[in-house]
Amino acid sequence: MERDAARTVSFSKTVITELMIPSYANFGGKIHGGILLSLMDKVAFTTASKHSGAYCVTVSVDTVDFLQPVEVGELVSMKASVNYVGNSSMVIGIKVISENVKTGVVKHTNTCYFTMVAKGEDDKPTRVPALILESKTDVRRFVEAIFRKKLKKDHDASMKEMKENWDKGEMAKLLEKERCIIQS
Ligand SMILES: CC(C)(COP(=O)(O)OP(=O)(O)OC[C@H]1O[C@@H](n2cnc3c(N)ncnc32)[C@H](O)[C@@H]1OP(=O)(O)O)[C@@H](O)C(=O)NCCC(=O)NCCS
Repeated sequence: MERDAARTVSFSKTVITELMIPSYANFGGKIHGGILLSLMDKVAFTTASKHSGAYCVTVSVDTVDFLQPVEVGELVSMKASVNYVGNSSMVIGIKVISENVKTGVVKHTNTCYFTMVAKGEDDKPTRVPALILESKTDVRRFVEAIFRKKLKKDHDASMKEMKENWDKGEMAKLLEKERCIIQS
């Protein structure tokens, strides 16, 4: 296929399933969050590089909330697809589910969004193929990614404004209700 030709969402859809072995567990016997993050990064890279046909790097990770613990012996599946493409960036949506093979119970542990950037031979961001949206779900996810991008921009601007207008009096008032002790 031509490198720049638009590609469907289904072209790069990827599912990675891995058995949660004892060495992945923390002291409490549950699977380490870092193991799951590493798997998410792998599936995000795979999906982004399939879509772009290029080497990709992770730029940003959005909303990783571990809603339910994952146990040793469960099968964890990461279902990933390209939700949005910009110029060189791609947002990969990842749904994580964990299955107990004996009981058949399936848990949706989280959904998160990785922003990946495709790099060219010169190690600079390179243009990725446009995305062909084949279903209403594809369109909804694309639009949601645009909203999320805007919310992040607004959030960053608000944080910047807050830091620039840092008021000592207001800060002290805010901290009165918090569980902290100021020593400086
Ligand atoms: C990602 C990287 C190439 C961006 O480089 P840059 O000089 O800022 O390039 P640009 O400003 O052209 O940004 C490239 C794209 O990244 C996007 N981007 C940059 N920072 C971002 C952020 N914090 N969140 C989301 N997207 C971001 C830009 O919006 C742009 O998207 P577009 O091309 O679709 O419009 C560079 O920051 C990098 O190499 N980072 C290290 C990545 C890495 O090592 N990851 C961990 C290991 S894989």
